[in-house]
Amino acid sequence: MNTKKELFDKLDGQDIEKFTITNDHNVSVSAITFGATLEEFNVPGPDGKPTNILVSVPSSEELMKNQYFCQAIGRTAGRITNGTFKIKGQEYHVDSNEGTTTLHGGPHGFNTQIWDGSFDGDTIVFTKHIDSSEDSFPGNIDVKITFSLNNDNELTATYSAKSDADTLFNPTQHMYFNLSEGDSINGQSLQINADKYLELNKDKTPTGKKVAVDDTPYDFRDNQNLKVGIADMKAEVGHSYDEVFEINDHQDDKPVATLSDPESGRSISISSKRNALVVFTPDDLTGTNYLRGKGGPYMAIALEAQNLPDTPNHEDFGDVTLPAGEEKTYSIKYKVEF
Ligand code: GLA
Repeated sequence: MNTKKELFDKLDGQDIEKFTITNDHNVSVSAITFGATLEEFNVPGPDGKPTNILVSVPSSEELMKNQYFCQAIGRTAGRITNGTFKIKGQEYHVDSNEGTTTLHGGPHGFNTQIWDGSFDGDTIVFTKHIDSSEDSFPGNIDVKITFSLNNDNELTATYSAKSDADTLFNPTQHMYFNLSEGDSINGQSLQINADKYLELNKDKTPTGKKVAVDDTPYDFRDNQNLKVGIADMKAEVGHSYDEVFEINDHQDDKPVATLSDPESGRSISISSKRNALVVFTPDDLTGTNYLRGKGGPYMAIALEAQNLPDTPNHEDFGDVTLPAGEEKTYSIKYKVEF
């Protein structure tokens, strides 16, 4: 296992550092301090050259303009209706950044922060103290994000937080994948361990209703080609995927989802103990530079393991409270095969 720290670029005059771990099979992971962003998840390509299975943005400047690409998301992934929620009967209102909705922790979420980076052995460690006055969420919070890579080609992201007052904590990594060398995910397939998905309002906040996937384009239980699924979605509901799947109760070691590319033989399995996976297949990423080149239609699929969003506003969505003084840790494991 090798590690490397280097200057990535500058943002508003501040150094943005890049941390890289390479394992004994030449699989490597690179993360930068701006947004605790995963820039690269490289596997050896057919000619031995590294192939990045992520669709990430090549500079901090462009990340500012194209938020969320492979960035850390928090305090709360997904949408909070009207930025309003209750904890133990006390109502809170947090800053919105999508109409009246708070998306991905709002305008000062984890993705907007420049994190303090270091190595702890072979593990990348990002830490940050975020005052309530900065992001409007209750509680001053200390957050630690780590990325580790082992010789089983497993990348594990962990998110830990502790707050001086009751708050919310539902983090994720906004991973955009494309397992091929190409500029489309059309040939790739997805399997999700989910019998239900969430009905969404027009503003993409959950209505609270859970819908069975049976006989719909939302059924990924037996693996589904994405080009076919996207075409069926557009024919039946008029848009491609931007959906929240409720993950079935599962053994911790059973992946919640697996993305595969028959042509390259690559696959990525995602393991998480939490109850949701967001799947987002943007219609067109044209006009933005990516590490792999110019964007285009269906160039990437975002897979965001998390708890069901808008959690405090729906009694059967789970619990994302972070009680004062308690530390909570969540992890997401990405196992790549090639
Ligand atoms: C999630 C949401 C999408 C979009 C992306 C970020 O995937 O579900 O609606 O906001 O984040 O661009």
